[in-house]
Amino acid sequence: MERLQKVIAHAGVTSRRKAEEFIKEGRVQVNGKVVKELGTKVSPQNDTIEVDGVPVDKEQPVYFLLYKPRQVISAVSDDKQRKVVTDFFEDVAERIFPIGRLDYDTSGLILLTNDGEFANKMMHPASKIQKTYIAKVEGKPDKQLLKKLEKGIEIDGRKTAPAKVKINSANRKTNSSIVEIMIHEGRNQQVRKMFEHIGHPVIKLKREKYAFLTLENLHPGESRPLKPIEIKKLKDAAVT
Ligand code: URA
Repeated sequence: MERLQKVIAHAGVTSRRKAEEFIKEGRVQVNGKVVKELGTKVSPQNDTIEVDGVPVDKEQPVYFLLYKPRQVISAVSDDKQRKVVTDFFEDVAERIFPIGRLDYDTSGLILLTNDGEFANKMMHPASKIQKTYIAKVEGKPDKQLLKKLEKGIEIDGRKTAPAKVKINSANRKTNSSIVEIMIHEGRNQQVRKMFEHIGHPVIKLKREKYAFLTLENLHPGESRPLKPIEIKKLKDAAVT
């Protein structure tokens, strides 16, 4: 949801200041009703906004896949002026935001959209969208510990849902291993906390897959629009 004057200004009708005047003058309607309140929140996609009886164009939904580099914030702005995921989309006019979060130091696949309903669906726990991470962890977790992760462990007072875990390689020299872990929950710092819990802290973390989507042909910092078939498949996979 966005402030009404911002949506009007963004649609190219007029400046934000002028839009505020129009609202105060009663020239703006939202879903057929005059709105004179400046702070009114509207959905640029779902609400019908009219200025002097002329509808303001609705924003078309857009969907992107980004290979987020490390040291980038999964947000649209940062009060410490650090790089944010939307900085990679300067040519995109729509107001996109990330679907969920990757930690500042986690790299990998993240989706961005301006479609709030779609984002909510993707993040709804019942949708159970599978995410695959590659973690470099300290030491080499034994089979028993991996089983524990798979069955679920308690973090932040709640048991994690079943996971799939596989050791890809182990390096005795650096005392570390590369582990693949697949989860469908999206709790805060979940993968880091899970490995911390079994005594093998994460050194490096990357999200390789989101549902059926991969980072194929992308380098860190690169993005691509989702294909219509991919959007449909994601919608079908989610709860309605
Ligand atoms: N789990 C984490 O610990 N960090 C992420 O960025 C994503 C999942």
